[in-house]
Amino acid sequence: MDTVQILLSLLSLIAASEALYKRWIPNTNYENASNWIERRVPCAQDKAVFPRDKRVSIFVQSSHPLTDLYLPLDGEFILSHGAGFLAASWEDPECGQGKFTNFEDADRHEWLDPTLWRSALSTDDLDTGRFLFAVDSESVPCRYDDVIFSPDTSFRVHFKEMGSDVQLRSISVLGKKFTNNDDFSQYLQSPTGKLQFPGSAHPQITNLRCQDSTGCLCGNDGMLQEICSVLLRDTDNKCPEVTCANPLRPIGHCCGICGALISLDYASAFSLETYRSRLLHTFLSLEKYSSVKLAISKVAHPLSILNVIRLGEEVKIQIVLIDGKEGALIGSDALQLGYDILADIDTHGTSFGIIKAEMQFATGGVSSPQTALMSPGAISGIVIGVILGLSVMGVTYFLYRMDSCSHRYLEFLQFWSDGATMVEDTAPVDIGGFDNPIFEPSPENNQAADTDGENGKDVVLQRSGFQFINPVFDSSFDV
Ligand SMILES: *[C@@H]1O[C@H](CO)[C@@H](O)[C@H](O)[C@H]1NC(C)=O
Repeated sequence: MDTVQILLSLLSLIAASEALYKRWIPNTNYENASNWIERRVPCAQDKAVFPRDKRVSIFVQSSHPLTDLYLPLDGEFILSHGAGFLAASWEDPECGQGKFTNFEDADRHEWLDPTLWRSALSTDDLDTGRFLFAVDSESVPCRYDDVIFSPDTSFRVHFKEMGSDVQLRSISVLGKKFTNNDDFSQYLQSPTGKLQFPGSAHPQITNLRCQDSTGCLCGNDGMLQEICSVLLRDTDNKCPEVTCANPLRPIGHCCGICGALISLDYASAFSLETYRSRLLHTFLSLEKYSSVKLAISKVAHPLSILNVIRLGEEVKIQIVLIDGKEGALIGSDALQLGYDILADIDTHGTSFGIIKAEMQFATGGVSSPQTALMSPGAISGIVIGVILGLSVMGVTYFLYRMDSCSHRYLEFLQFWSDGATMVEDTAPVDIGGFDNPIFEPSPENNQAADTDGENGKDVVLQRSGFQFINPVFDSSFDV
């Protein structure tokens, strides 16, 4: 056993029992200033007002002197030890005249809002803020997740009737964990349950674990549209503008992103948990990647020819990398990490059960490619330079060469349909293959490479049939 193998077996031991925990963020606690329209907790001379017709469950942690308290027609206060309300018997000098202080509308939070959940590998990580990044559809609880509503908080979450059943492994409410659907259904019939989860629809608790060490699909694909409409409801279903020219579209994500997207083909030896740990510990912990967010999960890739003919779907591991850079530099750290991951796969991929890796990327700096060239180093910089010069939507590099020509053909068709939708209509197709206009030597093309300085001459994007050889890895591997 070499060190990598030892490390791998250690990691898989640790990984064996891992599950994902998703915690609901908002609460309806009395002491939370952001739950009041005035953004402060009512003080002694204030009149606290709960909207008359809004049903709420409110957790109160301490005792509050008030001048007046207007209660809703239906609702409950959950009082922790020593908590309560009392008529103010003295003036609080800090409170001034006192005002009407109004509780926020507690009905505004939806289960399907991906921004209202935090995800982590353990409850400890949730407490210490070591959150995992995920695409939108997987930010919302997935089929095998443990869902947590923090103890000592009240909440109200709207759970819409959805096309497919939402399943969860378990759910914890007010410190009690439900792993049995009957128990949870019974809880939902209680007064507190009804206030926390209004409406008739609710998730099914299965107590099922993902049994596949290569990972399990999240199971939220069918809800993506609803998730996105909740996410984008304030912007009329429009995605925020991004600064890279041709943003990537990760599977399960609502909007285009700048950064890098790696897609892995895996064998049965692959372990999602092990590989995630590897990426988090080996790369994401590095100072230079402190602004990078990484999401890794198993996704179902639609397979199609030129986006028209559907060939079913293919299950892959998707890695999404975004960074905190802005403007011309957006995506540059993510891309650099992408190259590091590809290089790691080149040397250790087989021991991780990875068969093939492809990367697409979109970075900023279209107007100033010089800047964008700096950070990923000279060689990859040229690759970007060429791409930026020609405004391609993102380029896929095949790490491993494929031997079968027909295989290549399909892959290449996919490359076109995934990456370069603008070009696909005009791409000439014949039995011999494509003439890729992107890599055709043109004056513009040469110019782009020349501006990159002395390294430029050594780097050529080679073309052989349908096969692109990634100049970054060209010399270092052969399968
Ligand atoms: C206060 O409530 C808001 C909205 O419900 C939530 O996002 C925030 O995390 C809460 N803060 C605390 C300290 O509980």
